[in-house]
Amino acid sequence: MKLSISLPDPAATDALAAKLVAALPPCPRGWMILLQGELGAGKSTLARAMLRSLGHAGAVPSPTYTLVEPYTFADFTAYHIDLYRIADTEELEYLGWTDLEDGFRLIEWPERVPGLDAHADISISLSYAGVGRQADLVATSGRGTEFLKTLASN
Ligand SMILES: Nc1ncnc2c1ncn2[C@@H]1O[C@H](COP(=O)(O)OP(=O)(O)OP(=O)(O)O)[C@@H](O)[C@H]1O
Ligand SMILES: [Mg+2]
Repeated sequence: MKLSISLPDPAATDALAAKLVAALPPCPRGWMILLQGELGAGKSTLARAMLRSLGHAGAVPSPTYTLVEPYTFADFTAYHIDLYRIADTEELEYLGWTDLEDGFRLIEWPERVPGLDAHADISISLSYAGVGRQADLVATSGRGTEFLKTLASN
């Protein structure tokens, strides 16, 4: 199942983020969402808006250099991850990758780690569309498929 959504401006990206969060379970522990797309496609914008929709009120710094930025919520921890600077899979161990599996992961540049999509729930690909963007959402797990159906019907 694939869902294509037009995002004419950053406000549309924020609105999509709110819809995504509304379609997730209240405690999205263990969920993995991949954010793909070239430089400037809007991955961080979508991740930031999702964290805000989840209830985070503070700043959302880019994880470009830290690789992982954690956000603590009442029942779970969200991890905003940017794998752009990951050169090989072994570096994930230094990151403490397995410690993150329990959290809600939003991952930019997932293609830096081959095979990651096999463990993901949803893959969101952002691309340029004139001055705006387009989001193509694909489910990569059973619950991801249910999620997309909920999203499409709302
Ligand atoms: N739907 C949209 N329409 C127009 N501009 C947008 C949209 N979404 C995001 N942008 C703009 O695109 C720019 C880059 O966004 P962002 O930093 O989120 O990209 P990115 O994919 O995370 O880039 P990088 O690969 O460098 O991490 C920002 O100026 C942002 O406001
Ligand atoms: Mg980014």
